[in-house]
Amino acid sequence: MPIKIIDHGSGAYEQMIALRKEVLRKPLGLTYTQEDLDRDKHDILIGAFEEESMLACCILTKAAPDAFQLRQMAVDEKMQRNGVGASIMAFAENIARDAGGKTMMMHARKTAIGFYEKLGYSIVSGEFSEVGIPHVEMRKTLI
Ligand SMILES: CC(C)(COP(=O)(O)OP(=O)(O)OC[C@H]1O[C@@H](n2cnc3c(N)ncnc32)[C@H](O)[C@@H]1OP(=O)(O)O)[C@@H](O)C(=O)NCCC(=O)NCCS
Repeated sequence: MPIKIIDHGSGAYEQMIALRKEVLRKPLGLTYTQEDLDRDKHDILIGAFEEESMLACCILTKAAPDAFQLRQMAVDEKMQRNGVGASIMAFAENIARDAGGKTMMMHARKTAIGFYEKLGYSIVSGEFSEVGIPHVEMRKTLI
């Protein structure tokens, strides 16, 4: 399963938006605003593929000189619980480390806490709401 960095504005980026809409927004009755998508322009965009089809994606945003925030983590519903999420996370952590990242953090949906805990992340905040559902901040030191 090739995992690679994709370019903003490319065909792969269009696939990424479609996957994010389907997995992250549609179940909540939401979509993306132009303002949401404008955030992606200066970020590291990552996709996992089978043939030419995107199975999973995530985004890295530089949050501090030595810290990255993981955003928009999504695995195609048909492919969930097959190790795809863990693989794309390992790739993203390597990219962050290579770029000088010492910490990775994310705003994790409450329903995904167990996934991130399996990968060594810890909860570092109380519960808060984003896109209308409960989240917590999670964090891990990249070694
Ligand atoms: C959460 C998500 C990214 C996980 O990806 P995935 O490919 O399904 O996860 P993996 O198969 O790589 O799972 C890795 C491990 O985490 C566990 N796991 C996966 N999802 C989990 C969840 N929601 N809760 C608890 N554990 C979970 C798996 O059982 C597996 O454990 P194992 O190593 O003991 O077998 C994916 O299910 C998804 O896109 N969900 C909907 C969108 C979402 O919630 N995104 C995250 C927003 S913060």
